[in-house]
Amino acid sequence: TWTMDNIIDEKVAEIRAQVGDRKVILGLSGGVDSSVVAALVHRAIGDQLTCVFVNHGMLRKGEPEMVEEVFRDQFQMPLVHVHAERRYERLLADVTEPEEKRRRIGSEFWKVFFDEAQRIGGVEMLAQGTIYPDIIESGARKTGGKASTIKSHHNLIPFPEGVHFDLIEPLDHFFKDEVRELGVALGLPDRMVYRQPFPGPGLAIRIIGEVTSEKLEILKNADAIVREELDAYNERLFEETGERNSEHSCWQYFAVLPDIRSVGVMGDERTYARPVIVRAVESSDAMTADWAKLPYDVLGRISSRIVAEVPGVNRVVYDVTPKPPATIEWE
Ligand code: XMP
Repeated sequence: TWTMDNIIDEKVAEIRAQVGDRKVILGLSGGVDSSVVAALVHRAIGDQLTCVFVNHGMLRKGEPEMVEEVFRDQFQMPLVHVHAERRYERLLADVTEPEEKRRRIGSEFWKVFFDEAQRIGGVEMLAQGTIYPDIIESGARKTGGKASTIKSHHNLIPFPEGVHFDLIEPLDHFFKDEVRELGVALGLPDRMVYRQPFPGPGLAIRIIGEVTSEKLEILKNADAIVREELDAYNERLFEETGERNSEHSCWQYFAVLPDIRSVGVMGDERTYARPVIVRAVESSDAMTADWAKLPYDVLGRISSRIVAEVPGVNRVVYDVTPKPPATIEWE
């Protein structure tokens, strides 16, 4: 639109003035805010920007590929894809406490990120996808909070000894809806711009207890089925109502893997395998939420597909708890 183009021009001029001929680094998470800020800063300064994508191995199925496709293939940006999967697997071995998982994942991110910055060399600036609500919230983010570590407030960035980057945060006056519009105008695909919220620590906090590669594999496959079926369900609602977010659309939906097994039967064999929990909620702001009143046939299809397609799973259960008293995530 006319206004969006104007806003982009204005921001581009601002960023160019701020950056001059310096090199900028940006941590891409695959999320909306970091993706939009990457596209915007790249529009302004081109190859002076290097994006670093720290792959901790706990993204959803297809996400690392999407980051590559969009930023490397479509935008042709200098993109460093850091395969930190093994590093994170070791880091999380034996860790079961949810806040400890968050803490480790968050602080490791910065270590990997600054190592990469040093490898690139000559970097003087760091771009962040801080948006307006992050600034308001950061005051409220205290102990036990679930703030994304990538977006912690300025002075919380754990710069290593003797290292400092000037920050650019071109989205810090935008609300989420505006960030999405900006993303579309910059040419980012809808599936990236309109994706559902996803926690910074990723699937680690949807695996109850210890995170192992075996559990990750199960969860990724089960979660992909939940998303496929509920994307299709939302799409059908859209066709019926003409509304993107109708009263009954699902807002956030995913699979959770608890740390238990249960008995089942397959053919003549007794199985002792894992259950998968399906979580699907209606919400507008994540502060409160209700469990989605999904039609039985949709739930049934999710269940039969998961037990048929995901080895190691013999049971599917649906979480019917609102927030409060539960939270949307299980950890
Ligand atoms: P809860 O589970 O507290 O989650 O009802 C509310 C919303 O926040 C998301 N969430 C997170 N986002 N880092 C994030 O960036 C986190 O550690 C985190 N934990 C929860 C959650 O997906 C939901 O949308």
